[in-house]
Amino acid sequence: MARIKRHRVVPLRYSSSRDWNDVKLVVVILSLLIGANLYYFKPYNGWNLTKRLENLTPPVFGRFLGAEKPSVLSAAAIPAKTVLEIPQPPDIPKVAPVMQEAAPAVPAVDQVATPVAAPQELPAEKAAESAEASPGGQRQYVAVEDPNKPQFDFKVETAETLFKEKDWSEPPVNQRFIFHNKMPKCGSTMFQKLLHKLSIVNKFTFMDVYEPGTRDQDLVLVNKIRGNFKPPMAIMKHHFWMNFTKYHLKTPTVINIVRNPVDWFASEYYFCRNGWERKPDYKGKECQNMSEHDLKMTLEECVRAKRPECKTPNIEYIEFICGNHEICKANQQNYQKKRLALEMAKIRLLKEYYIVGTLEKIEESLRLLEHTLPQFFSGVLGVFREQDVQEVANSTRTLEKPQLSQHLRQELAMDSLRYEMELFAFIQSVLYKKYTSFGFHPEDWDPKFLF
Ligand SMILES: *[C@@H]1O[C@H](CO)[C@@H](O)[C@H](O)[C@H]1NC(C)=O
Ligand SMILES: *[C@@H]1O[C@H](CO)[C@@H](O)[C@H](O)[C@H]1NC(C)=O
Ligand SMILES: *[C@@H]1O[C@H](CO)[C@@H](O)[C@H](O)[C@H]1NC(C)=O
Repeated sequence: MARIKRHRVVPLRYSSSRDWNDVKLVVVILSLLIGANLYYFKPYNGWNLTKRLENLTPPVFGRFLGAEKPSVLSAAAIPAKTVLEIPQPPDIPKVAPVMQEAAPAVPAVDQVATPVAAPQELPAEKAAESAEASPGGQRQYVAVEDPNKPQFDFKVETAETLFKEKDWSEPPVNQRFIFHNKMPKCGSTMFQKLLHKLSIVNKFTFMDVYEPGTRDQDLVLVNKIRGNFKPPMAIMKHHFWMNFTKYHLKTPTVINIVRNPVDWFASEYYFCRNGWERKPDYKGKECQNMSEHDLKMTLEECVRAKRPECKTPNIEYIEFICGNHEICKANQQNYQKKRLALEMAKIRLLKEYYIVGTLEKIEESLRLLEHTLPQFFSGVLGVFREQDVQEVANSTRTLEKPQLSQHLRQELAMDSLRYEMELFAFIQSVLYKKYTSFGFHPEDWDPKFLF
């Protein structure tokens, strides 16, 4: 009896205590693995992500998702150094082909275009649509949201998405502090005269910081402000966009006045050579050592001869709007980088500037400033029409600037200055949107919207 008993019991005890548990463990692990894989590669999952990325940001993601149209930003446009921070749900297995390919397209600059995680459910009709569109078209799937579906829905900020969502009639961030990071040759002398006169009438502090060659040196400006800050205050300086928060300064309402880059470039070109009415002996730094022949060269000849000065002009139009961040450096022949700088400038324009007017629409720009920042600009149009302001505007005209032929304008706009032109077109669209959102009805103004 005892022998039989031992014989029956021992193997059973052995089995249940060791092997059986191991087998159970293996089965559990295997089913988890299979389950996770099946789950991850469920067709709707990948499809939806791809589809949504395409919808959200066609220019950025187009290329990576195999779209036909050429993408605006491509992998090469993103400096290898930039670290990508895409919010990822913790439980996603490492095998994520869609995510991994899409990820490098997000320009993760520490300050701009940070992808914002926006948990958002896909509308149920949309899921239903996708089911109906399946080949055959007979089976009807019922869209059921999986409660365990990982949330990797995120939003990427592009100039386009920001433009579409922008509240055009928002109030200025600061009613008592404005900063005009003036561009050279864009009527800034006239604007200085305007602000000076207005500061007396409207009782605010006006400071024009003149520190040549420091347009990318934030600390020069920061120290000037720290020593003289007395709101309500308006400050002007030739300066690339600056992050005031970074230096623990109050955020000002940032404004600017720009002009058509073709005229801007022509003006700079001749200004360098011929000076201006007030200083006819002036020569720009680059022109001081030029031969007589080069000094006499017209812009047309310069473009024809494909001189680097005109083929890849060293102008800082995009940097002024974008800032002195590495990514904003557009003065290079690397067009991928230049395109990224342009995108950054557009985003900056929408997020950080309040009003960017144009010299071409100076009266409309001033009217908009008067309406939105009356503390500073009340009565600006009257002052603008005063004789002495008009005289200043006249006296800073560049000397001997021949009229540019239509053909040359087009050539510059479509070749050497095409990125600057795109920014200018964008600025005009934004200005128009703002102007009309405050109830003004412009006549004779037909903006060509980019989006
Ligand atoms: C400005 O700087 C602050 C502090 O460094 C930072 O938190 C913020 O994101 C910056 N803003 C922009 C628009 O770059
Ligand atoms: C012009 O040439 C002189 C002498 O050749 C030189 O000292 C000076 O630095 C040059 N100026 C510029 C702006 O290149
Ligand atoms: C400024 O120049 C314009 C065109 O050249 C001229 O019509 C106008 O009278 C000038 N204004 C003053 C104040 O000099």
